[in-house]
Amino acid sequence: MVNYKTSREFAIELDKKDSLNVFRERFYLLPAKIYMDGNSLGLLSRDAEKSLLKLLDQWKKLGIDGWLQAENPWFYYAEKLGAQMASLIGAKPEEVIITSSTTVNLHSLVGTFYQPVGKRRKILADELNFPSDIYALSSQIKLKGFNPKENLVLVKSRNGRFLREEDIVEMMSEEIALILLPSVLYRSGQLLDMEYLSNEAIKRRIMIGFDCSHSAGAMPHYFNQWGIDFAFWCHYKYMNNGPGGVAGLYINEKHLKSQAALTGWWGYRKDKQFDMSLTFKKAKTAGGWQIGTPHLLSMAPLEGSLKIFQEAGINNVREKSLQLTGYMIGLLDRKGLTKKPYNYQIGSPVEEKRRGGHVAVEHPEAARINKALKDRGIIPDFRYPNIIRFAPVALYNTFEDVWQVVQALQDIIDNVEYKNYDEIRESVT
Ligand SMILES: Cc1ncc(COP(=O)(O)O)c(C=O)c1O
Repeated sequence: MVNYKTSREFAIELDKKDSLNVFRERFYLLPAKIYMDGNSLGLLSRDAEKSLLKLLDQWKKLGIDGWLQAENPWFYYAEKLGAQMASLIGAKPEEVIITSSTTVNLHSLVGTFYQPVGKRRKILADELNFPSDIYALSSQIKLKGFNPKENLVLVKSRNGRFLREEDIVEMMSEEIALILLPSVLYRSGQLLDMEYLSNEAIKRRIMIGFDCSHSAGAMPHYFNQWGIDFAFWCHYKYMNNGPGGVAGLYINEKHLKSQAALTGWWGYRKDKQFDMSLTFKKAKTAGGWQIGTPHLLSMAPLEGSLKIFQEAGINNVREKSLQLTGYMIGLLDRKGLTKKPYNYQIGSPVEEKRRGGHVAVEHPEAARINKALKDRGIIPDFRYPNIIRFAPVALYNTFEDVWQVVQALQDIIDNVEYKNYDEIRESVT
């Protein structure tokens, strides 16, 4: 662990040396708040606001003609933004499309690539995955006429926080037809070794896909180079595309000619779509996995957001993100907050190459401490029963923000402040 000094001045010095600090003013920071929840909902940038307002203006001025005559014609918008997103995730432009929502993309991709044959009919996932993925996988198994109790196999965690890649590989048996894993675990923030897992799956001829909701926009990926079959992610977290913003999906070039499980007219060859033929001819790009008319108003903020990423560089974003999370872990340790009477536990990997974009801090009183933090103007989120997640985001958080959060964690215990709150969870945490 890097030898961090515990003073506020040290944090301010780190901010002065930070080359990404300039991007902070491109965002609408919440007045008098320290926002640490960019892993749930990223903040609005001026750039994203501008691209959304531009789309509204073109609708106002062009009406239906916006499909072809808007500055970025709406008819090609999902493909255009997909091609820009491709550079952040190590994909070819034709392998990416901006479409639909995370869970719907999971359905569409698993529906396409889960092709049970003979005894190879199980799906391998993990017990720490986001619940929506597990619900969707169960329904996909049912749709193929099988019983999820027998055919959905979940890799177990040995400590409730992390997964061991070796345990996953051990379960890649001849009965497995498809593997779906998260890139970064939503609670602990563990980053799985996607390259290693993909290689092992490829060797065994098993389809493998990743839910990259917690890594898109937080780090670079090399999907094409790793040869992974498919991936999907949301843009409302680290990509700052706004609540319910349109999601993305990746399909390796070797599968682009496959038939999509869920077809609709927007997946048609673009040059012939308006022939309105009743015979479906799928686009031979990831665009072929679109279903209906794109949700342009929930997609437009991504245009501005991508501009920021292109200027900042995803490698720089990752480097700063690791410094921020490493600093937070280091400060908690150096200030003695992982010992009595504080008893905070670091629930995220300390090793950089296994760490995603947030830090999970565990405490038996997490629910009440989370409320005390919010009253102090710090916005993390709480995951039942004992996790407070902090995402210091490279594009808009500072080292001083992190320093203040750790100081607040200390004060809340020193002043027994958390006892002023109840443990009742709000309906959205
Ligand atoms: C890892 C992960 N997968 C899936 C989802 C579900 O996404 P959506 O509600 O956009 O379908 C989320 C939502 O936060 C998530 O964090």
